[in-house]
Amino acid sequence: MQSKLSELLNIKYPIIQAPMFLVSNVAMVTEAMKAGIAGCIPALNYRTIDELRSAIKALKANKIEGGSFGFNLIVNKSNVKYKSQLEAICEEGCDFIITSLGSPEETIIQAHAVGIKVFCDVTDLRFAKKVEQLGADAAIAVNNEAGGHRGNMSPKELTNLLSKELSIPVISAGGVGCKADIDKMISYGASGVSVGSPFIASHEANVTDEYKQACVDYGKEDIIMTERISGTPCTVINTPYVQKIGTKATWLENLLNKNKSLKKWVKMVRFSIGMKATENAAKKATYKTVWVAGPSIEHTHAIQPVKGIVDKLIK
Ligand SMILES: Cc1cc2nc3c(=O)[nH]c(=O)nc-3n(C[C@H](O)[C@H](O)[C@H](O)COP(=O)(O)O)c2cc1C
Repeated sequence: MQSKLSELLNIKYPIIQAPMFLVSNVAMVTEAMKAGIAGCIPALNYRTIDELRSAIKALKANKIEGGSFGFNLIVNKSNVKYKSQLEAICEEGCDFIITSLGSPEETIIQAHAVGIKVFCDVTDLRFAKKVEQLGADAAIAVNNEAGGHRGNMSPKELTNLLSKELSIPVISAGGVGCKADIDKMISYGASGVSVGSPFIASHEANVTDEYKQACVDYGKEDIIMTERISGTPCTVINTPYVQKIGTKATWLENLLNKNKSLKKWVKMVRFSIGMKATENAAKKATYKTVWVAGPSIEHTHAIQPVKGIVDKLIK
């Protein structure tokens, strides 16, 4: 399973354990490295920069040959901690950064100056060309089977297109739950894959057993899109609670959204309420179950250690 991605990161298998808000942690990434793959944590999983620095130090201490670790940065204005997170990551050091939402220009310049590679989330050719021209080391092609904020194009269409048009490696994100899925992505031209949802039901993940068990009990037919978390459509498990609250913006939000000056505030309030609800559902026992996951949980049949999940992806 050697590929351009395994060469870039010096890992045994061309797989990244994808960054997941509220879910990813040091224990997961440490086990990912032991299993011979890369792991990535959203910088936003740490409330303070000191906590972020401690996590980087812990991963540096746990790093072993054949594994690799990185951090995910939201690079647009919605992330008020972006500058201090980038500074901490560049000072402490890691193998790679994954950028999402916004221009990666500044991140690429600063990260490259200290030898950190930068991979950028993209969902179409135009943005992929832009990140390539800015110097990204690889493009992460987020397709319409991904968990979280997914893209619009199918895995085949997007991976084929980007691997033909770009000269940097293309990593396919979305819809990978077993070895056959990885083989498919490689046949479409991918240099590796980024896998998120299947790792939610891992012993090491930072979420409740109810959330993990839901990833076992529900399947791809149960994944729907909701606007009720961040305002931007996001994939969630269609639990009775999600059915009860609905997936569309409320009539009041729609009404307020029509007013140009109020629109920005409505978005911020929606974002903050939605994030709090998701955090509570992920971390506390509550009937308000808003669980983010993608259709690749189809292949999740038990709560397992990270190593067992990686085994399933490589065997
Ligand atoms: C619960 C969850 C949280 C996520 N959080 C983030 C995030 O904070 N930043 C990010 O760039 N992508 C995030 N993603 C997207 C993943 O990094 C990755 O692109 C996606 O999981 C790939 O699709 P898959 O779930 O089918 O493997 C998240 C996905 C899930 C399922």
